[in-house]
Amino acid sequence: MGLPEQRPWMPEEVDPSGPNLARVYNALGGGTHTFGADREMANRLLAVQPEVAYWVRTNRAFLARSARFLFEAGVRQVLDVGAGLLAPGSVHEVAAAVAPDARVVYLDLDPVVVAQANDVLRGQPRVSALRGDLRDPAEVLRLAAEGGLDLARPVAILLVAVLHFVQDAEDPGDILARLRDAVPVGSYVVISHASPPPELSAEGVQAKKEYSERTAPVVLRSREQVERLFAGWELLEPGIVQPSFWRPESDELVDPAEIERAKGTPAWVGVAIKR
Ligand SMILES: C[S@@+](CC[C@H](N)C(=O)[O-])C[C@H]1O[C@@H](n2cnc3c(N)ncnc32)[C@H](O)[C@@H]1O
Repeated sequence: MGLPEQRPWMPEEVDPSGPNLARVYNALGGGTHTFGADREMANRLLAVQPEVAYWVRTNRAFLARSARFLFEAGVRQVLDVGAGLLAPGSVHEVAAAVAPDARVVYLDLDPVVVAQANDVLRGQPRVSALRGDLRDPAEVLRLAAEGGLDLARPVAILLVAVLHFVQDAEDPGDILARLRDAVPVGSYVVISHASPPPELSAEGVQAKKEYSERTAPVVLRSREQVERLFAGWELLEPGIVQPSFWRPESDELVDPAEIERAKGTPAWVGVAIKR
């Protein structure tokens, strides 16, 4: 008997009857790699906090802008940890447009993400997707090399919307330090991290609690806490800002209403280099 909603790329052991972190995020961004339970959870979050869709969109736009920036700065190796389901603007798409000789390794804890990526990436020798856990930096580095990255040469490590799934007890600062110590000078790190939203209704608090319980617990961190994660890296202009304010294109963020909306985004991002 088949599962209720199976896709050819889905690993057989994965049960799509409950919501899954990567697929709920994909649903919030308007993606289609989702199942009923994911869409239900996404709709519940959107009902109490409609801005979530905008927040996901601006995070994805930051991801694409920062990847383009890195390639234009000469980066040719990217390790995208917690890559999520591939969607428009994913790093290999940016690479194809501006740095086709770049090598990209996607890592994610979720076997569904890795399976979807391998399906999408078939026939693309410079891109690979592997299963790995950010909380084990030695393993992350081993997998980066397995995926074809030369860690004796500069690499950009992307940690976009993933560090808030690392609990304080799992010491995200130490994870960052270990990755920093293992890569050569001239390497970059990109971080996007969720922070406490301005205000949540009682219903919003309940929906967030349910999301955390049914997918993965989220640790919202302040700007200062996010800044500490960059210890030992040199932050590039404009420093730590909300996603839309990180080097927007000249035609973005001109409408005052849009600027106000962007200021309400509960996330901090930054790009830094190892000197
Ligand atoms: C919110 S999505 C972000 C996807 C993408 N980076 C983006 O910003 O659009 C978070 C991803 O991190 C992955 N993830 C969560 N904890 C992880 C861990 N400890 N190691 C690796 N990946 C993890 C999830 O499976 C999910 O695909």
